[in-house]
Amino acid sequence: MDPMLTARDISCVQANREIFRIDHFALMRGEVLAMVGPNGAGKTSLLLTLALVHPAAAGTIVFDGETAHKGNLLQLRRRMAVVFQESLLFNMSVQENLMVALRIRGVSRKDASYRTEKWLKRFGIAHLARQSARSLSGGEAQRTSLARAFALEPDLLFLDEPFAALDYPTRNMLLKELGQLLKDMKMTTFFVTHDYSEIPYLAQRTAVLYDGRIVKCGTNAEIFGQENLERRAWVPWE
Ligand SMILES: Nc1ncnc2c1ncn2[C@@H]1O[C@H](COP(=O)(O)OP(=O)(O)OP(=O)(O)O)[C@@H](O)[C@H]1O
Ligand SMILES: [Mg+2]
Repeated sequence: MDPMLTARDISCVQANREIFRIDHFALMRGEVLAMVGPNGAGKTSLLLTLALVHPAAAGTIVFDGETAHKGNLLQLRRRMAVVFQESLLFNMSVQENLMVALRIRGVSRKDASYRTEKWLKRFGIAHLARQSARSLSGGEAQRTSLARAFALEPDLLFLDEPFAALDYPTRNMLLKELGQLLKDMKMTTFFVTHDYSEIPYLAQRTAVLYDGRIVKCGTNAEIFGQENLERRAWVPWE
């Protein structure tokens, strides 16, 4: 298999404390990998480092064959998109949120407008196009964030607990839709969650992060087993 992103000997230090240390990590082209772990394990810190938002204290990250360094960070980052738990939308309309993100990345007005319409429709929020992002419900805001990320047509998508703030029915519906979309598009995705019941909807493989270390990594069946996935009380990092 062909890796889209590899990391070797990366670590992150904050306030003199080592937040994570990873010897080797690989995300394959076209796969969805879930990263599961308890609060404070270092999932968000690792995601931000892999997405080239936060520099690693040490180590090497290779994205699509190119080693990341100061000189190409921006160019590589522009081929990625990140969706967070809080939607982080700009204080403007839904439509403008997509348009501005696309224009910042240098997409022409015509193409940006085509992609905005396409992805608002695809996420079922075309009717909200002119509504202010501030006035959206949690579910609508996450649909907007996801539409914005897909409109960027990234080569690599990062999702940091995008469903954590949603109620159960909203979350379930969005998980199913997104699972189908990721599969149809063969989108390479790094999906962070602490709720492992979400994993089978989206991911084929799972890595378990505990105290800044990847303690397990394998297919969902290897990590959880069907029985464990059905027993929601079971904890993968114990
Ligand atoms: N800027 C920072 N300064 C100091 N400590 C930090 C900083 N950023 C993260 N940390 C610490 O790093 C650890 C990992 O944080 P991180 O947010 O990566 O965990 P997480 O696995 O994403 O947790 P959660 O499930 O709650 O989102 C925490 O103990 C946090 O306090
Ligand atoms: Mg986090």
